[in-house]
Amino acid sequence: MAGRLDRKVAVITGGASGIGLSTVELFVAEGAQVVVADIQDEKGRLLEQRYPESLRYVRCDVTREDDVMQAMATAAGAFGGLDVLVNNAGICDQMMDLTQFDAAQWDRVFSILVRGPMLGTKHGAPLMEARGGGSIINTASVAGLVAGWGPMAYSSAKAAVIHMSRAAAAQLGSRKIRVNAICPGMIATPIFGASAGLSRPAADQLAARVAELCVHAQPIPRAGSPDDIARAALYLASDDAAFVTGTHMVVDGGLTASARHAWDPAVPSPLAGLFGEPL
Ligand SMILES: NC(=O)c1ccc[n+]([C@@H]2O[C@H](COP(=O)([O-])OP(=O)(O)OC[C@H]3O[C@@H](n4cnc5c(N)ncnc54)[C@H](O)[C@@H]3O)[C@@H](O)[C@H]2O)c1
Repeated sequence: MAGRLDRKVAVITGGASGIGLSTVELFVAEGAQVVVADIQDEKGRLLEQRYPESLRYVRCDVTREDDVMQAMATAAGAFGGLDVLVNNAGICDQMMDLTQFDAAQWDRVFSILVRGPMLGTKHGAPLMEARGGGSIINTASVAGLVAGWGPMAYSSAKAAVIHMSRAAAAQLGSRKIRVNAICPGMIATPIFGASAGLSRPAADQLAARVAELCVHAQPIPRAGSPDDIARAALYLASDDAAFVTGTHMVVDGGLTASARHAWDPAVPSPLAGLFGEPL
C-alpha cells in the first residue's frame, strides 16, 4: 500500500525522543526517508540500526548554524534533497517568579526554541525550493497561546515560534513552501524530567509517571501521547494539507478550549447562580 509520505525526505530535529521520535517512526512507516538531527548520539545510532535503509542520524545542536547545515547536507547527500522539515528540538526552563528571571537561561531557551527553527528554515528552504516546494512544521506549544501552561521563557519563545511560522509562510508561499506550527497540550515525554535537571535515563523513566498525572489535565480523560502530535505532523507534511499554511494546529485534548470549571464538576463555576438559578 502506498504511504502518505512516499518519496518524501524529512529532517526531524529532536527526533531521538518523545514527540520527535514518534514523528520519525510514523514518517518512516509512511514511506519517508528521514534525517534525525539531535544531540543524543546513542539513541540516534540505534535508530540508524533500526532503519538502515531509510534513516540517517546527524549530531546537530540546533543552535549551531554549522550543525544545521550539516543536517541539511545529509538529507541532500543521502536522500537527494528535502521535502519536509520538522523543527521540533526543545527544552523547557523552570517555573519561577519573574523577578528571579535568569538572563542566561532565557537566552538558552530562546536559542534552542526560536533560533533553532529559524536556522532550520534558512537552510532547509533552498533545498525545498529546488524540489518544487515543501512543508516546514514547527513544534510550538499551547504555552505560546495561553499564559499559565509553561515557564516564562518557554511560553514567550513558543509564542515567537507561532508567529515566526506565519511570517515565514508569508515569505515562502510563492516558493510553494508551507510553514505551520503545532501546539501540543500536555504530552507525556521526558521533557518534564529533563527540564527539572534529571539525567536523560531518569527523565525517560519519569515520562510514564507524567502520563498518569496528565490523565485529568484536559477534557479528554487520557494523557496526550507523542503519537497524537506525530499524526498532526503527518497531516501537515502530506499533500492533504496542500493549501494549509501560516497557521497553528492545537492538539491538546481540549486543554485550551475552555476554563476548567466548564468540564470538571469538582471545580465551581464563577458563573454559578447567574443564569436564572438563585444565588
Ligand atoms: N511534552 C509536552 O507536553 C510538550 C508540549 C508542548 C510542546 N512540546 C514541544 O515538543 C518538542 C519536543 O519535546 P518532547 O516533549 O518530545 O521532549 P523530549 O525531551 O522527549 O524531546 C526533545 C528532544 O530535543 C532534543 N534537543 C534538546 N536540545 C537540543 C539541541 N540544542 N539540538 C538538538 N536537539 C536538541 C533532545 O535531545 C530530545 O531528543 C519541544 O519543542 C517541546 O517544547 C512538548
